[in-house]
Amino acid sequence: MPTALILVGDDQRVVAANQAATTLFGLALEGRSCSAFLRHPEFLNGLDACLHDGEKRTARIVMTAPAGETHLALTFTGLSAGRDRHVIVAFEDLTALEHAVAMRRDFVANVSHELRTPLTALVGFIETLRGAARDDPGARERFLAIMERESGRMIRLVNDLLSLSRVEAEERRRPAEQVEIVGLLRSALATHRDQARAAGVELRLEAGEAPVTLRADADQLMQVFHNLVENAVKYGGSGKEVVVRVSELEREPVLRGPAVQVEVIDRGEGIDPLHLPRLTERFYRVDSDRSRAKGGTGLGLAIVKHIVNRHRGRFRIESEVGKGSRFIVILPAG
Ligand SMILES: Nc1ncnc2c1ncn2[C@@H]1O[C@H](COP(=O)(O)OP(=O)(O)OP(=O)(O)O)[C@@H](O)[C@H]1O
Ligand SMILES: [Mg+2]
Repeated sequence: MPTALILVGDDQRVVAANQAATTLFGLALEGRSCSAFLRHPEFLNGLDACLHDGEKRTARIVMTAPAGETHLALTFTGLSAGRDRHVIVAFEDLTALEHAVAMRRDFVANVSHELRTPLTALVGFIETLRGAARDDPGARERFLAIMERESGRMIRLVNDLLSLSRVEAEERRRPAEQVEIVGLLRSALATHRDQARAAGVELRLEAGEAPVTLRADADQLMQVFHNLVENAVKYGGSGKEVVVRVSELEREPVLRGPAVQVEVIDRGEGIDPLHLPRLTERFYRVDSDRSRAKGGTGLGLAIVKHIVNRHRGRFRIESEVGKGSRFIVILPAG
């Protein structure tokens, strides 16, 4: 039985417990008094009442431990064996479910918030254009430019959300195309030349002469390096140089086989180690005002992580404040 179960006698001692219950409470339960291993009033009252009248009942409790909270749904079922009354208590672990519900809630709140800001701006400017700025061509141009920028941001957000959900939907299916990655990187860099030049950044590709082929989805890999190079220019541009380096690894310890490593390196301001573990979360931005001002939605690295997962690869971020950052994508070769 995957559900944790205990059988309790009318002296409130555990008569029998299954393996799942032992694992849940981390100790052997047989013979113990219930109040000794779970001093939760909902549990003890439910048990007491069920021993008394044999009626089935349920309860919800949260166990707190240093490792985190465990949400449990309890079911008490009365059982008569001869003259003795017994109760079976089932503990169903709802932690993963609660977590998923909380994530969905956060996600909806984040998306709504990201859309509300540009929409509020649009509505405000439409009102102004109809009223105060009606006969002012200068103001009209200015406001239309802002409206264009805000609409562009919403389109980008929606596109990013769509590609994220597409990647997630296919995450279990490994891509089957053969892709030559050096050429792909060359064209990814080419699309950022203008942006880099405008920011005074030199883009450099460091790769050998020979082609490097691997099993991949070309469009998705393009998106990965597009996002990483865009970030490097946008946030690491003060270093004046962004390097994309390709190396072939004979044996990658975690992937346990040959791999291709692509590093996107900038010498900009770097990222505080505090933020590193959360950087690939959706909507996570180090400095959200600044990133938003640059048109960012905080989805770029989440998309990168999911695409790399789909390729059964690894994604790592190293950074040092004041020195720059290194975003490392490792993909299985062959
Ligand atoms: N090379 C970098 N140097 C410094 N900070 C970075 C770098 N790359 C990413 N970041 C930080 O990580 C955050 C998350 O990046 P991500 O690409 O996920 O979102 P974004 O760039 O804000 O928005 P989007 O990519 O969706 O347009 C950024 O807001 C930025 O603060
Ligand atoms: Mg980005």
